[in-house]
Amino acid sequence: MDRIRGSGASNDAAREPTLQPLTSLARRRLLEFMLGSPALASMAALSAWWPSAAGARPELAIPETAQKSLDIFQIKAAAQRTLDLQAWHFIVNGADDGKTMSANRRAFDDWQIRVRRLVDVSHIDTRVELFGETLRSPIILAPVGGQRTLHAGGELASARGAAGREHLMICSTVSSYSIGEIAAVAGGPLWFQLYVSKNRPFTRHLIRSAEQAGCRVLVVTIDGPTLGNREAERWFRARSSTGRVPMGNFDNYDGPKGIGDPSMNWELIAWLRESTQMKIVLKGIVTREDAELSVHHGVDGIIVSNHGGRQEESGRGTLESLPEVLDGVDGEIPVLIDGGIRRGTDIFKALALGADAICIGRPYLWGLGAFGEQGVTRVLALLRSELKRIMQFAGTTSLAAIGSEYLVTRRGGEGGEGVGLL
Ligand SMILES: Cc1cc2nc3c(=O)[nH]c(=O)nc-3n(C[C@H](O)[C@H](O)[C@H](O)COP(=O)(O)O)c2cc1C
Repeated sequence: MDRIRGSGASNDAAREPTLQPLTSLARRRLLEFMLGSPALASMAALSAWWPSAAGARPELAIPETAQKSLDIFQIKAAAQRTLDLQAWHFIVNGADDGKTMSANRRAFDDWQIRVRRLVDVSHIDTRVELFGETLRSPIILAPVGGQRTLHAGGELASARGAAGREHLMICSTVSSYSIGEIAAVAGGPLWFQLYVSKNRPFTRHLIRSAEQAGCRVLVVTIDGPTLGNREAERWFRARSSTGRVPMGNFDNYDGPKGIGDPSMNWELIAWLRESTQMKIVLKGIVTREDAELSVHHGVDGIIVSNHGGRQEESGRGTLESLPEVLDGVDGEIPVLIDGGIRRGTDIFKALALGADAICIGRPYLWGLGAFGEQGVTRVLALLRSELKRIMQFAGTTSLAAIGSEYLVTRRGGEGGEGVGLL
């Protein structure tokens, strides 16, 4: 027994290889014994079933089709199998050592859900109104550039997958198809995400293209005074023979088209106001101070985001930033959030903490990479049904009903001990 369990509670990883064969040998002997027993003859079918069902973990299984996928993590596994190294590392990593990216996920575990009983939850309403438009679901596709790296259909497949379910999609400045091409297939609402160029005429050109495509909201990403240090992405790109992905919004403009402007400051908002009638949403706010400044400068909305941990390293999870951003906004404008959302319960927690809606990035990229349009549709369907399930358990029949009283934190009060209501 000692040999099987190792000598004492050791963390010495070097011992583990000797433990593994003994454990599986013991398991096989037990199985052989059981199958050899006449009393258990009817369990013969077990031998076929054993390795795949008992031995494998469903969360590591790779589904053959989008429809068979049980959750986002299976779809992620399918994407990893399908995509080449360059495409996989384009989407899967964060900056530096991935601490901000991990913090995004971890932050959700600090919260637990208080459910109520005996509430009529036969009808669940997940509609949300944003900027005068009613969306059927609070689940939005975050802007992601270069989606043809993942699938030939690129953003067109994502737009079709989203519109089929009437989800809003935010189109990136650096999308592989142009905003006009995406709008032509979308059939659902679209917002445009803007990266500001130092060359303001090009920035204006991008804004015009979005307006012509029918976008009513301009999401200005402001977390890029410089580019995050995405080492794996750079490493595999340098070793790939694949050429650069096209950038549809850059095609019919002749002047300089570099994006990014480290000299950007709050004066930008007045310039944007003069340049467009679209609503202006800032993506990348993570502090109270900047939330206050956003309201002060007349911004229409905020997305609490750290770019999925692809920009600054050692940042907080976005869910940790959300309360102070909401404080700074003081109810004046809608606040959305993205980063690390992988389950319906994550969505529930973000809404309970005060977000009006949420965006997902990597989950739909995994869907796109693994199964194209159907993968995107499946990701959205899974998240929608998970959200509905937890709303039914909690006894919240509409998004407005999901308040902070449905959450407790394990961090407790300032001392960090005990269980506290928010
Ligand atoms: C591969 C990749 C490309 C992205 N491209 C953009 C982009 O072009 N513009 C932008 O504002 N955000 C971009 N983002 C950030 C997402 O909009 C979003 O903030 C982030 O993915 C949310 O975190 P999640 O992936 O954990 O859901 C990108 C994210 C990824 C993973």
